[in-house]
Amino acid sequence: MKRVKTGVDGLDSLIEGGLPKESITLISGPPGSGKTILCYHFISKGLETGDTCLYLTLDNKAEKLVTQARQLGFDFQSAVENGTLKIVFLDIHNKLVYDVVTKEILSGEYDRIVLDSVTSLSELPIYVEKTELTETNEIITGNDFSSTIDGPPSRMHLHYIINLLDTAQCTSMITSELRYGSFELSRDGISEFLADGVILLNFDPTMDKRKLSVMKMRSTRHTLRSRDITIGEDGIKFI
Ligand SMILES: Nc1ncnc2c1ncn2[C@@H]1O[C@H](COP(=O)(O)OP(=O)(O)OP(=O)(O)O)[C@@H](O)[C@H]1O
Ligand SMILES: [Mg+2]
Repeated sequence: MKRVKTGVDGLDSLIEGGLPKESITLISGPPGSGKTILCYHFISKGLETGDTCLYLTLDNKAEKLVTQARQLGFDFQSAVENGTLKIVFLDIHNKLVYDVVTKEILSGEYDRIVLDSVTSLSELPIYVEKTELTETNEIITGNDFSSTIDGPPSRMHLHYIINLLDTAQCTSMITSELRYGSFELSRDGISEFLADGVILLNFDPTMDKRKLSVMKMRSTRHTLRSRDITIGEDGIKFI
């Protein structure tokens, strides 16, 4: 099993050296728990090892993301300039946002992809443009969703996104927003089953402590016990 380093030393040693190559890992946690910063580490490590990276962001415009990352010591600007990192802001008001996601994920030969966050994308309605699936389609495209689908759109969206990332054969991190105090592993209650791994970030304000737990990692022996972490000017560190 080839491993892909997350860029956080303490985390890699918890999961036999890194994420399984070409796996999809869900990073879940309440606001401010460090999901985005963990993704920065993952991208930064990729750039350091010569990987081509894609960062799909729904929360921040690209410039803001580069600035935030710089404050934590990650130089994304030069990687964007030399073409090893592409940052794409996904506007959820764009009805064709799924077409943009599809094009970006499948267009490049990316080694690492971050989707931050999957929650905003999975809660979108399904826009109907065509109601019939054709047998020649290898994957369902945004145009193929039917208006007669039963169940919540999020399940369709999440299956679609996971399928896309699988097709792209990259190693990816997708983030999921949790309500503070929630005992769930994702906001949608579905993505933790679809992802190959789940890393939970949390904090305890009364003790002023932050935590990281590996809740699931296929093909990997790992502890379920949470570990204390800090977030400082160099990002995430294990205590
Ligand atoms: N330069 C820094 N130095 C120290 N701590 C920082 C720094 N930048 C951010 N933090 C801490 O990290 C937190 C934000 O982390 P991050 O943006 O990764 O959270 P998140 O889980 O992605 O949140 P959200 O769900 O809102 O996107 C801040 O609330 C702050 O506590
Ligand atoms: Mg974030």
